[in-house]
Amino acid sequence: MSEIKRVAILTGGGDCPGLNAVIRAVVKTAIVKYGLEVVGIRRGYHGLYHKDFINLTLDNVQEILSEGGTILKSSNKDNLFIYPIRDENDNIVRDKDGKIMYHDVSDVAVENLKEAGIDALFILGGDGTLTSGRDFARKGVNVIGIPKTIDNDLAETDYTFGFDTAISVVTDSFDRIRTTAKSHGRIMCVEVMGRGAGWLTLHGGIAGAADAILIPEIPYDINKVAEKIKSDMANGKDFAIVAVAEGAKPLGGDIVISKIREDSPDAIRLGGVSAIVADQLEALCGAEARSTILGHTQRGGNTSGHDRVLSSRYGYAAVELAMEGKFGNIVALHGDEMTYASLEDVIGQKTKNVDPNGELVQMAKALGVCFGD
Ligand code: F6P
Repeated sequence: MSEIKRVAILTGGGDCPGLNAVIRAVVKTAIVKYGLEVVGIRRGYHGLYHKDFINLTLDNVQEILSEGGTILKSSNKDNLFIYPIRDENDNIVRDKDGKIMYHDVSDVAVENLKEAGIDALFILGGDGTLTSGRDFARKGVNVIGIPKTIDNDLAETDYTFGFDTAISVVTDSFDRIRTTAKSHGRIMCVEVMGRGAGWLTLHGGIAGAADAILIPEIPYDINKVAEKIKSDMANGKDFAIVAVAEGAKPLGGDIVISKIREDSPDAIRLGGVSAIVADQLEALCGAEARSTILGHTQRGGNTSGHDRVLSSRYGYAAVELAMEGKFGNIVALHGDEMTYASLEDVIGQKTKNVDPNGELVQMAKALGVCFGD
């Protein structure tokens, strides 16, 4: 018999459509199928450190299946293993060179879990949040990770929830960009999220019938993109749509950083490459160009039907794993099967990236898409 009686759940890192659907599935399965108590930890690891705990009941998860975001709120600044030291007024302490000073407060979190009688902890997050999840598992906490990200870049699972919803947003945006591009005969460069992975740009670009798709995995030569657009224009098409991943970079060049968030474990924020690409294409093609950054619209709004189902599967499978005592793992999707993989393997590996020679890229090229290579 399992000793699990009381479980907790937290959401960390950037939010993502489907988090609420996972929370709902965890709470319902835990309470209805197993008679467990469920604790919600608010604001991710921030709440774990500050004991911001609430009881989650079936009432709390009513009417949240479709809603993006997370009822538990999230934080992407609270790595408890490298936590900024704060003074009595809660201001971050800096050394004489102005650098933030850090300490490890993870033992406080472990104590808080023990004090609250929590037998298992469900951690919903991407690589940053799950790295801490692995480190808590190493400290003996019964962790089950549930991988989330619109970037779909986590190793050991085929698809993360949130990705499908984000593809729909990107596709819809391309449809909207297309009508205005056509009306003005412009080159429209649309910047898509995904950090160092091109999945969202590739899928969104294909679904949105982009003429060129620029992804981090295939450094681009802007002259090649311009040649493709000019050739289309010579053949009578007087507009172009270019899907630009926020992490795209030119051959021999670098990514474009919009901001360094010193207080965040994942300090680099990307943004701005689409404006550079637009300026260059305008000059090379002799047609007006504009850039649009889709930004956080890609993470907001309602969760797609596909993601509602996938999230429910992730949440249900997580509780099943916990009841089987299989801690230190994430729930994973392999093919169409819910399974699991070790947190050690997930975190130890590089992120999952688009294969430049893979079938999707080859198919898109065959359909006339330019990757700038
Ligand atoms: O990892 C998810 C993601 O949305 C990335 O695609 C993007 O680069 C990043 O988060 C943005 O982070 P923030 O919400 O901190 O601006």
